Amino acid sequence: MPLFEAVGVRKRFGGVDALRGVDFSIEPGEVVGLMGDNGAGKSTLMKVIAGAYRPDEGELRMDGEPCAFTGPRAAADHGIAVVYQDLGLVDERTVAANVFLGQEPRRFGVVDGRRMRAEARQVLDQLRIRIPSVRMPVAGLSGGQRQCIAIARAVHRGGRLVLLDEPTAALGPQQQDNVLSLIKDLKKQDKAVVVVSHNVDHVLAVADRVVVMRGGMVSGVRRVAETTAAEVVGLILGDTAAFALDGPQDSQGETP
Ligand SMILES: Nc1ncnc2c1ncn2[C@@H]1O[C@H](COP(=O)(O)OP(=O)(O)OP(=O)(O)O)[C@@H](O)[C@H]1O
Ligand SMILES: [Mg+2]
Repeated sequence: MPLFEAVGVRKRFGGVDALRGVDFSIEPGEVVGLMGDNGAGKSTLMKVIAGAYRPDEGELRMDGEPCAFTGPRAAADHGIAVVYQDLGLVDERTVAANVFLGQEPRRFGVVDGRRMRAEARQVLDQLRIRIPSVRMPVAGLSGGQRQCIAIARAVHRGGRLVLLDEPTAALGPQQQDNVLSLIKDLKKQDKAVVVVSHNVDHVLAVADRVVVMRGGMVSGVRRVAETTAAEVVGLILGDTAAFALDGPQDSQGETP
């Protein structure tokens, strides 16, 4: 049985059909690479799964049971942890506070700063993330360091399903490798991971399955063991590739 399923999910923003009937599923311990061109609907799907957006139509199921997330809190209670493309860090707060954001350890009703810093340091070390001090505000960090903090937070929250929206986009090669090994570690712990990425090599290196979106729909699903980088790129480009190879199919320049 899949850990999580989305069936026939639709989401409109004004006149934009961001999701036009998406079916998606993931098993425990499975890593799915979610790919597709800019504007394909990947982040919108992540936000629906994480409870940030309510779908206009369709059903979400966890362990086969329908679940309607009333908000991010409800999704988190179901074991869904997410790192958004825009990270959602609070600049003026410290590294340690951002790792815990909203779930700070407390002692006698007040935030236990000492424990928070020690645990934050532990999580960062585990992920081999080098930050000079967990006491420094996040505002003083580089883009790549900020991305690592956001990932550390999602990992620390645990969750049975971890959603990573372009986790390696702003990182240098060393940190990219760290994130990829982190994804493999999560898989070993039997967690399911959805990793949104434009990098085919990264997806093929860590994923079991690739789901390609195009224009708000799933345009292809492949097992990594049974596909190639060229095939995946072809699925992402879709009609554009056919157009480039064959030229326009009709007078409007549209491929049928
Ligand atoms: N909050 C919003 N309000 C209006 N339109 C939105 C909103 N969020 C997304 N969209 C639109 O929905 C479509 C899908 O956007 P989405 O962010 O899901 O794409 P994406 O696949 O994540 O792209 P990228 O690779 O650029 O991150 C786009 O046309 C986008 O403009
Ligand atoms: Mg996106």
